[in-house]
Amino acid sequence: MGIIDREAARAILRKNDRGGYTVPNGRVYPFQWNWDSAFVALGFDTFDRGRAWTEIETLFQAQWEDGFLPHIVFWKDDPGYFPGPSVWGTGKNPVTSGITQPPVAATVVRNMWESAKSADEGEHYRQRLEALFPKLLAWHRWFHDYRDPERRGVVVAMHPWETGRDNSPEWDAPGESIDVSSVGDYVRRDTSHLDAKMRPTKLEYDRYLALVQFGRSTGWDHARISADNPFQVADVGMSMILLRANRDLARLADDLGNSDDAAEIRSWIDLAEGGIGWLWNDDVQAWCSRDLLTGRSSGFITSASFLSFYAGLQDARRDEAMRRHFDRIAGLVEYMVPSLDPADPGFQMVRYWRGPVWAVVNYMIGTGLSEAGDRERGEKVRGDTLALMERNGFYEAYSPIDGSGSGGDDFSWTAAIGLAWADR
Ligand code: DGY
Repeated sequence: MGIIDREAARAILRKNDRGGYTVPNGRVYPFQWNWDSAFVALGFDTFDRGRAWTEIETLFQAQWEDGFLPHIVFWKDDPGYFPGPSVWGTGKNPVTSGITQPPVAATVVRNMWESAKSADEGEHYRQRLEALFPKLLAWHRWFHDYRDPERRGVVVAMHPWETGRDNSPEWDAPGESIDVSSVGDYVRRDTSHLDAKMRPTKLEYDRYLALVQFGRSTGWDHARISADNPFQVADVGMSMILLRANRDLARLADDLGNSDDAAEIRSWIDLAEGGIGWLWNDDVQAWCSRDLLTGRSSGFITSASFLSFYAGLQDARRDEAMRRHFDRIAGLVEYMVPSLDPADPGFQMVRYWRGPVWAVVNYMIGTGLSEAGDRERGEKVRGDTLALMERNGFYEAYSPIDGSGSGGDDFSWTAAIGLAWADR
């Protein structure tokens, strides 16, 4: 296990490097994506530490004054992607989108910081950490202020793209109240690069576009969006990821001697630990996203449901229930962890977030399980992820049934996770 072609993985990162930032895949995603870049930095960190830090620093150059960090930075225009900068109309320089993405950056920066210290390069990287820390803090504060309107200690996504799990069935019922009647005509680009059966449907794209148009109509005023957005879903994935990222950010604050900041961050952790139980679904015995507007739990067991270990939640009864789901699902597929429970009637082997395995989510799940002392399941996830890369190359995602690649090839974050996990 773990015999991936490291040179091929490094070559993908170099090929997709546009000078200071890395595109996920030159054809399908020709810009800088937020959480992609964070995972990419983990890969660079295994062979070019300075370049890893630069990836995150470049991303934060696009941060808005209020702390918001966009999900896409359009450093250069490219006609091969829709919706491009003119559709978002945020009016920022650099041009960006108006929604965010899962906040994995603080955890990645902590990893890079620990790795620099263990290589005796802590002194050298301390200044870069000191410059990044307030930016990470401002972004997390922005989540607290604008993505948790009821102060429940969760993250409320205002767009399916914010969750990173674009077409997960968790967004189907909440999406029904989005009015798509004024979206108008548009030409998708993703389906000219990839087989449409792998990608979200036309109805899903209409909803994505209607939400972009709504955000734009507010002038990307995040206070108005958090009050009036027609889609508001407490996402189990982002909620777990932010809780984990806050723990890492608090440790960075300790290392830098920023005790006031550490106290503020720990107050967010307390709030999340007290409130996140709202996402537990007793009927299905799993962590599930919940519609803030209707109060309804999705009831879907997805790969994000298993991020509770990564979040550092410890609850014997719930952990045991999640382990039972893990073992049941492992009996249904060849490769863990499918993005949707294969027992669900909506499971599809190759359609993006309705079945395929994603290396970055696996990385978080496997890391969380191992940290929680469940080495066997953690190693199962790691072994399956590396086996997919060894056998089929570095795809955007993979079928959990036969391991075939789905989405873009030569995919940066997959190569990066391969390097980070194989070299561990
Ligand atoms: C896309 O365009 O498919 C992206 O996932 C949006 O971030």
